[in-house]
Order: sequence, then C-alpha cells, then structure tokens
Amino acid sequence: MKCLITGGAGFIGSNFINHLLNTYSDSIHIANIDKLTYAGNSANLESIKHLENYSFYKTDICNKTAVKEIFTEFDPDYVIHFAAESHVDRSINNPDIFVQTNIIGTQILLDAALNFGVEKFIQISTDEVYGSLGTNGYFTEKTPLDPNSPYSASKASADLLAKAYYETYDLPVNITRCSNNYGPYQFPEKLIPLTILNCLSGKNIPVYGNGLNVRDWLHVDDHCTAIDAVLNKGRIGEVYNIGGNNEWTNIDIVKLVIRQMSEILPESGISEELIEYVEDRKGHDWRYAIDSSKIRNELGWKPQITFEDGIRKTIHWYLDNREWLNSVVNK
Ligand SMILES: NC(=O)c1ccc[n+]([C@@H]2O[C@H](COP(=O)([O-])OP(=O)(O)OC[C@H]3O[C@@H](n4cnc5c(N)ncnc54)[C@H](O)[C@@H]3O)[C@@H](O)[C@H]2O)c1
Repeated sequence: MKCLITGGAGFIGSNFINHLLNTYSDSIHIANIDKLTYAGNSANLESIKHLENYSFYKTDICNKTAVKEIFTEFDPDYVIHFAAESHVDRSINNPDIFVQTNIIGTQILLDAALNFGVEKFIQISTDEVYGSLGTNGYFTEKTPLDPNSPYSASKASADLLAKAYYETYDLPVNITRCSNNYGPYQFPEKLIPLTILNCLSGKNIPVYGNGLNVRDWLHVDDHCTAIDAVLNKGRIGEVYNIGGNNEWTNIDIVKLVIRQMSEILPESGISEELIEYVEDRKGHDWRYAIDSSKIRNELGWKPQITFEDGIRKTIHWYLDNREWLNSVVNK
C-alpha cells in the first residue's frame, strides 16, 4: 500500500505517519510532501527518516510541476491530504496564503490524483466549515457549509473542489471533518500548547473575549484511527464527521491545564493569575460540536482516549520535550 501524505511534518500529519508505520509496518510505503512552513518540523519525524519505506519531499503543494514529478516517481495508491495553513488568527491577518495553499494547492493535488488514477483521495477538513452553533445542536454531515473565517472559508472551498472532482470526474474521494485536536507535536500557537508554553515561560495566557466559546476536543491519536477507518472502509464520495463528544469552554481548558501544570511543578508559581482576557477574535465562532454517529455506526470507529488521560499525557509530553518546544518557537 503506497500512501502519499501531504503536510506530514505538521501536527496531525506527523502523528498520522507514525500511526501508519506502527499499524502497517513494512507493508506500507509512505511519501511525505511538506513545504516545512513555520508549522512543519522535520524533527517531528526524526526517528523514521532512515526507514526504507519512507521518503520525504520538501515541496510546496502549489508547485504543479514538482507535484507531478512526485506522483510519477512514487505512483501512490492513496493520497491523504493534510497540508494546509491552519491557524485562524493568521488567516485574519493574511488570507492570501490560505487561498493559495488550501484552495489552489488542493486543486493541484486533486488533478494529480485524477491523472494518476489513485484508489482514494482523503481531504482532511475541519468542523469549522460548518460555521458556528448556538447553545444547542450538533454539526452533522448534512449541515450546510457556512464558514466565517478566511481559514474555514478556504477549507470549505477545498472540500467543495474535492466533492466536485468526485461528482464530475469520479475521483474516489472522502472528506473528513474533525473537531479540535490536541496531543504531541502541536505548534504552540494553538490553545493547549500555547497555554503550556506560557506557563513554562511565565508569560500571560491570552484568552479571547469572555473565554466562554466552546470547542469539542479530540486526541490526535483518535483522529488518526478515524482517518485510518475512512481509508479502509469509507464509502466513496462520503463525508465523515469526527468528534469526541467532549465540549469545553476555552477558559475551562486553560484553567485545567494551569491546574495540572501547577500540580506537576508545585514550585513554579504557575497560577490563574497568568490568564489575560484580550479583545475577542474577529468573527469568533461561538460553539462547535460534532455529531459523529455516522462514522461510529458505519465504520465502527470510536475514540479510545479519555480526555482526562489524554490531557495529562499531553502535558507530560511537552514537559519531556522542552527542546522540541524551544526549537519550534525559535525556528
Ligand atoms: N489541528 C486541528 O485541530 C485540526 C482539526 C481539524 C482539521 N484539521 C486539518 O488537519 C490538517 C492538518 O492540521 P494540523 O493542525 O496538523 O496543521 P499544521 O499547521 O500543524 O501542519 C500543516 C502542515 O502543512 C505544511 N504545509 C503548509 N503549507 C504547505 C504547502 N503549501 N505545501 C506543502 N506543505 C505545506 C506545513 O509545513 C505543516 O507541516 C489541516 O488540513 C487542518 O485544516 C486540523
């Protein structure tokens, strides 16, 4: 089985490559295309770079010629497309690169996948394409797309292109839409690793607005098993929502991380005094919550990692990997 992974040096992509190697061992061949932006880090894959069944291409997915050359050389059976600009705040400050990478880059990959006759193309997407919920209700796969940020609009555009390639050209496509992930190797601009980093460096922890916006959190390993289920069993042309039924307000997440950090490092002085409420993010979605009954019922997937366990292990991972944390911040 030959899998072409894009964005494999990022947070979820690198965890997914490790998942594939642990699950399929020598029977899998992996090619990883990654531009190594600020969010991509080859150190995430240091332990596997020598493997014969792994190749890395430092390439921009927007470079059509280079993408075609890689497809010619590797001839993938499957494409699992993670590469993206992924941070909402950056998309508000500079939407251009989000349009380039997330939309144009996806179209270039879809074209290559079509020309090389891949068995499946998985578009890794996000619950943010559905927009914002009020206090009640859940996003299902039938919820209309209603994105609010340049990031989510670019991801929704990419999803629509993937759907169009399925409808128009019969490209075998699946789209997955997952809630917020947490776990090792996440760049410390996202809420959980940023909170950990700022606790360690004694810096204020910015919390948008009143901190009451709600997100549904899933451990990255559970996201990886869900993508694997879609890879093997997902019905062609279908969308699968992935979520943890694990809703938290941002402020409660920050307080939880602070509490656990202060228990692990009792002498550190880490406390809620580090919290700094800042002006709300523009167009800040109020609540995301995923109905993942389709993937649970159809593909038999369910999350295995409790939040209590997952968050404790995640904090310990960042504490044990401070060199990694410092290196990505100073990259
Ligand atoms: N992090 C989450 O909570 C979450 C939740 C749902 C869906 N997603 C989606 O999952 C995917 C991966 O997210 P992540 O959090 O791992 O992102 P990330 O920002 O950690 O990693 C993105 C990777 O893509 C690479 N990349 C960016 N632009 C590129 C380009 N033009 N060419 C080649 N490589 C490029 C980066 O170098 C990086 O390695 C994204 O598509 C994102 O939309 C993320």
